[in-house]
Amino acid sequence: MLQHLLLPVVIMAFSPIPGTFQDSAVNPTQGEFEDLGVSIEDCGRPEPSSRIVGGSDAHPGTWPWQVSLHHGGGHICGGSLIAPSWVLSAAHCFVTNGTLEPADEWSVLLGVHSQDGPLEDAHVRTVAAILVPVNYSRVELGSDLALLRLASPARLGPSVQPICLPRASHLFAHGTSCWATGWGDVQEADPLPLPWVLQEVELRLLGEAACQCLYSRPGPFNLTFQLLPGMLCAGYPEGRRDTCQGDSGGPLVCEDGGRWFQAGITSFGFGCARRNRPGVFTAVAPYESWIREHVMGSEPGPAFPSQLQKPQSGPWEPREENCTFAQPECGKAPRPGIWPWEVQVMVPGSRPCYGALVSDSWVLAPASCFPESPRDLESWRVLLPSRPGEEGVARLVPHENASRDSASDLALLQLRTRVNLTAAPSAVCLPHREHYFLPGSPCRLARWGRGEPASRSSARLEARLLNSWWCHCLYGRQEETVPPPGDPPHLLCPAYQEEEEAGLCWKDSSWSLLCREEGTWFLAGYRTLSNACLRPRAFLPLQTHGPWISHVTRGAYLEDQLTWDWGPEGEETEKQTCPPQTEHGACGLRPKATAAGVLWPWLTEVHVTGDGVCAGILVAPGWVLTATHCILRLGSTTVPHIEVYLGRAGVSSLPQGHQVSRSVISIRLPRHLGLRPPLALLELNSRVEPSPSALPICLHPGGIPPGASCWVLGWKDPQDRVPVAAAVSILAPRLCHCLYRGVLTSRTFCVHYTEGQKDRYEVTSAPPLLCQTEGGPWVLMGMAVGGSRELFAAIDPEATWISQTVGEARFLHPSGSPYWPPEGSDLCPQDLAGAASSPEVAGLLLLLLALVLIQC
Ligand code: ARG
Repeated sequence: MLQHLLLPVVIMAFSPIPGTFQDSAVNPTQGEFEDLGVSIEDCGRPEPSSRIVGGSDAHPGTWPWQVSLHHGGGHICGGSLIAPSWVLSAAHCFVTNGTLEPADEWSVLLGVHSQDGPLEDAHVRTVAAILVPVNYSRVELGSDLALLRLASPARLGPSVQPICLPRASHLFAHGTSCWATGWGDVQEADPLPLPWVLQEVELRLLGEAACQCLYSRPGPFNLTFQLLPGMLCAGYPEGRRDTCQGDSGGPLVCEDGGRWFQAGITSFGFGCARRNRPGVFTAVAPYESWIREHVMGSEPGPAFPSQLQKPQSGPWEPREENCTFAQPECGKAPRPGIWPWEVQVMVPGSRPCYGALVSDSWVLAPASCFPESPRDLESWRVLLPSRPGEEGVARLVPHENASRDSASDLALLQLRTRVNLTAAPSAVCLPHREHYFLPGSPCRLARWGRGEPASRSSARLEARLLNSWWCHCLYGRQEETVPPPGDPPHLLCPAYQEEEEAGLCWKDSSWSLLCREEGTWFLAGYRTLSNACLRPRAFLPLQTHGPWISHVTRGAYLEDQLTWDWGPEGEETEKQTCPPQTEHGACGLRPKATAAGVLWPWLTEVHVTGDGVCAGILVAPGWVLTATHCILRLGSTTVPHIEVYLGRAGVSSLPQGHQVSRSVISIRLPRHLGLRPPLALLELNSRVEPSPSALPICLHPGGIPPGASCWVLGWKDPQDRVPVAAAVSILAPRLCHCLYRGVLTSRTFCVHYTEGQKDRYEVTSAPPLLCQTEGGPWVLMGMAVGGSRELFAAIDPEATWISQTVGEARFLHPSGSPYWPPEGSDLCPQDLAGAASSPEVAGLLLLLLALVLIQC
């Protein structure tokens, strides 16, 4: 009590100088205090007794100046009691969109320890006024402090005591260990759990140079930051301990000569406890005059005792302070394929279950490995890499939706004892929610769950990630928008090298997908059910589960995205939708051309031994459609050997794609009385799994798709086979019929070339005619009739044959009006005959006639 009575004396001795910062000349020195005979044991001294990320429960009464600021019935920010009627906090707690919130909406809770249940020693004060520096606008621009004048003075006692404020001349040496306190989140987006006990965390002061050095290097969200005067950093380059949302306004206090001084006010950070992103505080010392000016006349006011232990001479900011960036502490593999986080969980009576070590005491594995309500956890064992012994299991925490939803088939197992994370075992990195694995990222598969062990070394299982458009449109739900970077993807798709794929069949295998960034491995996805013998091509992303994993484990290694070089594809980040799918799945997909090349994923090179190369079109995973005249020479009786190639784009190499080759095991022709049919189906020796370099086209069921743009897809030069698309329009059926009256033998499309498009490609390779409606899939309309530029044998008259031969052929639902004119309609206007007798048309008619005759 005595101490408090002395307070006014101290304050009256300091006359505040309005508008000046750091003016210590007017302040009494420590000597002067002694001369005055004033004992200033009235601040910063908790009664002897006895979150914050990575912190722990404080003991009651340890931080008696800590207050909780409530608004709308809940805790919003912290603050510190600096005098019976004054609380220091952060400006950003009270300023929304540039306006200061009314003081009377706030209340101050003092002497609180746990915010749950009856607040025994605690008491509440209403706020009479909130003062914020006039130049405060946004946290990143500094001056983030506020003074709150209480409507009535706080009742001081063992759990309610003011903190000492530093004078402007007070030097907090870098490297000093200080403490931050608060009821804020215990991790990003993870609120302090009940009973809401005040958290404390020890943080080291970082020098301005060291902090600026860390913040100058791109961190989360690829951002850098320029520190400003009046800001102070505290934390660790390696992160893991920090203040977080809800701690703002609370104090950062450092001890000096048995007394606690407030060095900083919790202000902001980039995420919480992330690597190389220490917390940013408002430095209190520079605001000595501002504080004095505003509390002027208030008695008792705050105490500004002088510093007892001055740091050794020199500037408080040694310039030569070196800056060491913290490197990721997770995801380091000595060799790809040797995973130091791969653990086996042994449950008596079942095969081992593979999972991943995600922290020093938690293992992530599929929940489906374990019984729903296990009773014998004591008998479970965990085998860690490079460790002879086995670990016991203390706890099993299945994901709450694990049994209902395969996308949540995850469980966390806590080990009985913490593991010393050295080279092995070590933890894998987990992605934050907003992580964007760049297309083309190198990935590998690792065992997951209770599958049969791989029959071959898993070291070779290299894959590169497809971009999200492909992944989403090939395997996602149709007509949904593709999640843009920053939103968690629905799926992650690795594309494997064809040759690596061949011959691998692993029974009941589950897999996890590891992706590498800057030499660091992330557990990016997982797949519990694999499809048949093939490797899974679409993985469930783990990043949506990051919050749950960090909530349960409180220390899993959620690591920042390390690579941001998006390359040319990075430009295309706007939301895109997938075209509608047929009942057989995705077909006719083709993303916008990228700088790396133009891709026609269904365009097939059909190489006929001893002959030329023709165009073919992939119509299903094991089938290519081509023009009969290309593969079966007239008069020849032998069936040629045919090889097909997909994923080629002439001389230019393909983005993310791989070349695929197959040989043809049978040629199928529809039965046509007397005539040789124009279309042939080639059966491939094995299926071609959908990928950006090999994807079936959609087939048009009839008519002309309304509003479509149509193209003839050919090769400029059959030697290097660089695809070119010539824009055409399909002539109205009657016009076509009349122009080529007596010439057309089967249902045939006639096309008209857009100006200058006609001679863009050469004709001998029988190019296909394709159409696309805006935003829709590409559809195959027909294949060129031998030697013609204008006539294309239509697909739809052969729809039944195609569907019967190839069950998976993807016909779209019929739309538009039927194309074909009534049979035998001969009502052609006279002038058309004239048109057809133009030299061009006439020549063509002759040529066609000849062809048709020869083919008969
Ligand atoms: N601005 C936050 C709040 O309003 C405090 C954030 C502190 N963040 C940090 N990483 N240190 O509570």
